[in-house]
Amino acid sequence: EWGTAGCATAVAHPNIALIKYWGKRDEHLVLPRVDSLSMTLDVFPTTTRVHLAPEAGHDTVVLDGRQAEGEALRRVVAFLDLVRERAGVADRAVVHSENTVPTGAGLASSASGFAALAVAAAAAYGLDLDATALSRLARRGSGSASRSIFGGFAVWHAGLDAGSAAAADLSSHAEPVPAADLDPALVVAVVDAGPKAVSSRVAMRRTVDTSPLYEPWAVSSKDDLVEMRAALLAGDIEAVGEIAERNALGMHATMLAARPAVRYLSPATLTVLDSVLRLRRDGVPAYATMDAGPNVKVLCRRADADRVAEAVRDAAPGGSVLVAAPGPGARLLRGDG
Ligand code: PMV
Repeated sequence: EWGTAGCATAVAHPNIALIKYWGKRDEHLVLPRVDSLSMTLDVFPTTTRVHLAPEAGHDTVVLDGRQAEGEALRRVVAFLDLVRERAGVADRAVVHSENTVPTGAGLASSASGFAALAVAAAAAYGLDLDATALSRLARRGSGSASRSIFGGFAVWHAGLDAGSAAAADLSSHAEPVPAADLDPALVVAVVDAGPKAVSSRVAMRRTVDTSPLYEPWAVSSKDDLVEMRAALLAGDIEAVGEIAERNALGMHATMLAARPAVRYLSPATLTVLDSVLRLRRDGVPAYATMDAGPNVKVLCRRADADRVAEAVRDAAPGGSVLVAAPGPGARLLRGDG
């Protein structure tokens, strides 16, 4: 027995994209412009408990012990509305969510957050969904959450482009990617824990609407994905890293060319990127990727992780550095009542 209808708790971990999701073709359904591919981490889980409150007139959402309001509350309520509509149950709910991500670490807490919420809410409302359906559901909360339903490496399909919205919705979900044993680590360098100036939603839309570099990047990203799948199958971590780094730098180039420019990379980001180049010059395979913030995640062999972490720490003395490995998919916790 997995959870009890009416109440359920789930855990999910963040993921970091090696082939980036950047740009939507449908804002409401959260359909992306490109396929993306990520590694789910074994650090910073989010634990979320949903229980139905049939007597209540509204949803209550408590994030890290504080009642959510404004945009954060609105997103969770909109997500619960979707679940209620599918389940045919109108009850409001109480949601408790605990993030272990250091505040503002820029570590895709919306991915772990909406993956955990999807699994817990589906169970609490009595929806019997398989992993594919959960991925599709999590996508509606935050695109990258679709990938955190799965552990290890996962690809999120942009989905069918021609035909009905329903067909597009059905076909846009993540699934595990076959990979040889890479024994990878991701060294996470938090160089700035402050909140981002521009949300990824706004930045994506502006990039798609105004950047002359967006289409070329989207086209090249297709080739990157093909090469990435081959590199993962071959267990070639140098190729995996090279493709990931160029895909991420290309994504940031699209934003820099947006009007007005969106620039998430800071001086500290570039200092860490220099240290990654020095590591490679010294024969250590290490490759960087950055998301909608200045923090850097460095892909390397697990055997090299301590050395990479030290180099990155020296480069960003004010920041904090930790080593992550591939982690598990989202799951319901037992013993909930
Ligand atoms: O899922 P969102 O809307 O937070 O977008 C995430 C976008 C990136 O983190 C920059 C890239 C990705 O694929 O995760």
